[in-house]
Amino acid sequence: MPTRRAFIAGAASLPALAPAARASEPVSHVLRAAPATVQLAPADFPLTPLWAFNGTVPGETLRLRQGDMFRARLENGLDQPTTIHWHGQRLPNAMDGVPYMTQAAVMPGDSFDYTFRLRDAGTFWYHPHANSLEQISRGLAGVMIVAEAAPPEVDAEEVLVFDDWRLTEDAQIHPSFNSRHDKSHGGRLGNYITVNARPEVTGQQVSGSRLRLRLVNTATARIFRLRLDGVRAWIVALDAMPLDVPEETRELILAPAQRADLIVDVTAQPGEEAMIASVERDGTYAMVTWAVTGPVMTARTAPRALPPNDMPRLAPDDARSQPLVLEGGAMRGLPEEAVWKGERQAARKLIEGGQFWLFNGVAGMPDTPLVEASLGETIRIPITNRTAFPHAMHLHGMHFREILPVGLGPWRDTLLVGPDETREIAFVADNPGNWMFHCHMAAHQMSGMMNWIRVI
Ligand code: C2O
Ligand code: CU
Repeated sequence: MPTRRAFIAGAASLPALAPAARASEPVSHVLRAAPATVQLAPADFPLTPLWAFNGTVPGETLRLRQGDMFRARLENGLDQPTTIHWHGQRLPNAMDGVPYMTQAAVMPGDSFDYTFRLRDAGTFWYHPHANSLEQISRGLAGVMIVAEAAPPEVDAEEVLVFDDWRLTEDAQIHPSFNSRHDKSHGGRLGNYITVNARPEVTGQQVSGSRLRLRLVNTATARIFRLRLDGVRAWIVALDAMPLDVPEETRELILAPAQRADLIVDVTAQPGEEAMIASVERDGTYAMVTWAVTGPVMTARTAPRALPPNDMPRLAPDDARSQPLVLEGGAMRGLPEEAVWKGERQAARKLIEGGQFWLFNGVAGMPDTPLVEASLGETIRIPITNRTAFPHAMHLHGMHFREILPVGLGPWRDTLLVGPDETREIAFVADNPGNWMFHCHMAAHQMSGMMNWIRVI
C-alpha cells in the first residue's frame, strides 16, 4: 500500500488524471454576475451602471495554483441567461460554459457550479458565453491566474487588463449591441480605452527592478498595439503557454482574448518614467506610467523560460487537413447564396437576419462540425481570410501552434488572422467533446463567425 504522503505526491504529478471533485466539497469562489455601478469614466463624469462579477470591473482576479481543483459557483443576478467560459483552460468539456453545447444556460436567479483541475499554469480569463457581445461589453470579464509551482523571481507582479468601452456623453454604456455597421465592419469598438477599468494606471518602480506583467485584452473588437518604454521586456508566455525561449520585444499586438506574460526590467533611471502606451490611429496614449526611483538595482541576466505546461507532441506532417475560409463583411460582401440555419439562402436573407460573415460558406453554427477528430488525432486547419478585416480566431479546449515556413509558432488559443492572409494552425485533438472555434470579435461571432470541432 502506498503511504498517504506518496499518494498525495503521486496525485499532484498527474493533475489531468486526478478524480473529479466530490459534490460535497465546498466551492472556493462565488462569482455573481449582476448589475453594478462604478466610477468608470474620469472623476468629473457620472457613475456608470454596468454588469459585473462581484460588483467590480474587471471582475475579481482569481489567484490559483497549478494542480489544484478549482471550484466556482456562478450565480446569475442578471435578467437574462448566462454562463462562464474559462478562456484558455484545457478542461473537461462539461465545464466549458458554452450554452446549448456543453451545458444548459444558467437562468436568472439560478446558479451553476464549475469544477475542474487546473492542469496548466498561466494567465487566463473568464467571461460569459451567452449573449457575449452585450454581456462582455457591459463589464462581465475577469482574470484567472494559475501560478507555477516555482514561479520566476521578480520584484513585483502586475495584472493589466486592456479594454475599451463605448460610452455615451454622460458615461452610460451605449446600448448599441445590434449595430449592423459594427457587425459588418471591425466589431463594436469603444470610444474609451482603459487599463484595469481606469484611463491610466500609475505607480512607482525602482530602477533596475524586475516585474512580471500579465497582459489581457478583454475587449470585444479592439486590437491593442502596445509599446514599451523605459524597460527591457521579454515575452515569456502567450495565451498562458510559456515560450520555449523568452523573446525580447519593444512592441506587441494583443488581439481580443489574447494574453501575454512579460518579464520586464526597468531600465529608466531615477527621475525618469517607464511606460506602456497604446498606439492608436489618432495617436499614442500612455496606459501605464511608472515614476522610476532609486537606488538603482543591479541589472540581472536575461530571464529564463517559464516551466512548460504538459503539452502534447505535435507532428503536423502526419495530420489531416481541414481548410477554413473566412468570407463576407463590408467591402467584400457575401456571395449570392450561402447556407444559414441549415438552408441555402439568398445573401439578402442573411443580411436581413443580421448575418454578414461565412465560415466555409456557412453563417452561424452548422449542425455538423468543421472537423470530427478521433481522440489523439492531429488536425491542421489552414485559415484563409478573404475578408477585409482581421479576425481573432479562438479554439476552445485545446491549444494549437501555427505552422510557420520554418518550424512551429508558440502554443496559442487565439490567433489573429489579417485580411488576405492564410495562417495554418495544427493541434492534437486530445480533449474529448464539442469545442467551439470562432472569431472572438463578439460582433462577428454573432453575425456568422462560429463553428465547432468534435473530438471523440
Ligand atoms: Cu473567450 Cu468562445 O471564448
Ligand atoms: Cu472577426
